[in-house]
Parts: sequence; structure tokens; C-alpha cells
Amino acid sequence: MDSTTAHINIIGGGRLGRSLAKLWHSHNAARIAAVCNRSLQSATEATTFIGAGQPCSALEQLKPAPLWLIATADSDIENTAQQLAETGTLRRGDIVFHCSGSLSSKCLGTFEATGAYTASVHPIHSFADPDKTQTSFAGTYCAIEGSQEALDQLQPLFQTIGAITFSLRSSEHKALYHSATVMACNYLVTLQDCALHLLQQAGIERNQGLELLAPIVRQTADNVTRQDTTTALTGPIARGDSSTIAQHLQAIQQQAPDLLILYSQLGLHTLPIAAQQGSANSDQLRNIEKQLKAATDNEKP
Ligand SMILES: NC(=O)c1ccc[n+]([C@@H]2O[C@H](COP(=O)([O-])OP(=O)(O)OC[C@H]3O[C@@H](n4cnc5c(N)ncnc54)[C@H](OP(=O)(O)O)[C@@H]3O)[C@@H](O)[C@H]2O)c1
Repeated sequence: MDSTTAHINIIGGGRLGRSLAKLWHSHNAARIAAVCNRSLQSATEATTFIGAGQPCSALEQLKPAPLWLIATADSDIENTAQQLAETGTLRRGDIVFHCSGSLSSKCLGTFEATGAYTASVHPIHSFADPDKTQTSFAGTYCAIEGSQEALDQLQPLFQTIGAITFSLRSSEHKALYHSATVMACNYLVTLQDCALHLLQQAGIERNQGLELLAPIVRQTADNVTRQDTTTALTGPIARGDSSTIAQHLQAIQQQAPDLLILYSQLGLHTLPIAAQQGSANSDQLRNIEKQLKAATDNEKP
């Protein structure tokens, strides 16, 4: 490792913190100085996984470093930043950043008085499995915003491990931007879970359901990422098939009423895509809209 490689302290060596630290360590992009978690045992597990860094469980034990990542849960970032600022360890010109999708660098405002630069870098990646991330991170898009001084150093740090950075036009839109990634990633899981529930109601066991849906889910994910939604849409709404939709609504009402509103609302949001595709005519789509609206209205408390 180059003797000029910057040291970084990681506060919060959880799923994201330990994954990024290991990537930086293995790419010689940064020297992992210390990993601070709430418990020493958890910090030790993180440094063992990373293969570098001093484990600790108190912010006061951290030594000065030019780079600081706060990777605690979003709800703890501001509080952790406040406590870190109070230790007096930060020096003018240090860079402090977090990786939250919904918070901007403004929540690190407490460091302004210390002369440290702040930023946020949000990887659009699921860190559920830190081992898997070591091979799957390259090519991940990372939304960056914050002070230019911080971004000038953080962009190469992330690019070295394969990230593709892009700037968010305004920190004001961070929550809206993040809600989009939640819809695209987390709610895909929710939809899959709902589909498995419907299959179970139809007498198909969960494991078999997973197996049955896997190819069509992969194909759809592939279609919708290679083409736009208008081209990727298939199924009864795209075909204007109102009698199939009526059968679905009746079956869901009887067997899985909790999912009726979700099914209908998603259908209503599917109609404009179908209209743009143009395979169904406007009368057919209006007919489907009437049925979907009636189903949501009937379910309202
Ligand atoms: N997970 C993802 O897929 C993902 C994706 C993009 C962005 N992010 C962002 O990454 C950040 C971390 O998320 P995560 O999923 O990695 O969380 P996580 O797995 O729950 O890890 C959080 C870590 O923070 C530590 N911690 C909490 N409070 C602390 C404190 N006061 N001082 C020191 N350490 C503290 C915890 O220590 P203990 O282990 O001792 O409890 C834990 O190791 C969040 O801002 C999140 O929005 C996550």
C-alpha cells in the first residue's frame, strides 16, 4: 500500500460499513484505521471480516484521520455526528461523510465549526450480504452531494472500487430520490411476497411458488432494465382484457382481501403505461379503470 494512502475511520461497521471498508482495503484505496461499533464484539467481527483496522466501541478511542465514514443507521447519524464533534478529534480539512439515501450532508452541519468538509455518497446497492458485495459492487451507481472539497477526494475513493458516481442536482430532493430507489428495490421484494401469498391461497407451496416465479421475474427485470416500461409491459391490462381483471378482483376479494387495494392501485398506475403502448383501445382501458376504481372505493373504510 502506498504510504500516502489516506487513513479512514469507520463509525458503524455494519453491513454497509464493513463491506465498503473491505473493498477499500483490498483495492489499496484507503487504510482502515479503526472501526467503531456500539459493542466491541461487533467491531471485532467487522475488523476480522475486513482484514484490517483497530476495533473499538467508543468514539473517544478514535485517533485523528483525514477521512471519517459515519455508517450508523440513518436515525443515529446526526446524533453520532454531534458526539464525534464533541470529542474534539476532528481537524480542519478532515472529511466526514455518510452513505444514507434519504439524508443529505446537511445533517452533518455540526462539523462546520470544526472546519471539516462534509458530503453524502449513497450507493444504489443492497448490502444484505457483505461477502457477496465484494464481487457485486463494481458498477454500482453512487449519488453524491456535499462540499466540493469533500467530493474531490471521495469520488476517486469510490471510483477505485468500481463505483460510478453521479451528482444530485439538489440536496432538497434527496428524500424523493431515495423513495424511488425504495420503490424499485425494496417494494419489488414486497410485490414478490404478495405474489407468493396469492399462490399459496391457490394451493401452491411457498418454495414451489419461488421456483415458478423465478424465470418470469428475471425476464421482467431484464426487460424493464433494457427497455423502457412502455415496451416491457405485458399482461391483461396491456391487452385491454377487462374480463380477466374482473375475475382477478373477484378471486382476490374472496381469497386474499388484504391485497385488493394494492392490486387495484397498481392496476390504476398500469393503465397510463398500457395507453402509451397502444395495444388496447381506450374503451377497454376505461372499462378496466372503472372496475379497479370500484374495487378501491368499496374497500375504503
Ligand atoms: N444496508 C444497505 O443495503 C444500505 C444501502 C445503502 C445505504 N445504506 C446506508 O448505510 C448506513 C448503514 O446502514 P447498514 O444497513 O449498514 O446498518 P447496520 O447493518 O444496522 O449497521 C449499523 C452499525 O452501526 C453501529 N452503530 C450504531 N450506533 C452507533 C454508535 N452510536 N456508535 C458507533 N456505532 C454505532 C452498529 O453497531 P453494533 O453492531 O454494535 O450494533 C452497527 O454495526 C445507513 O445510513 C444506510 O442508510 C445501507
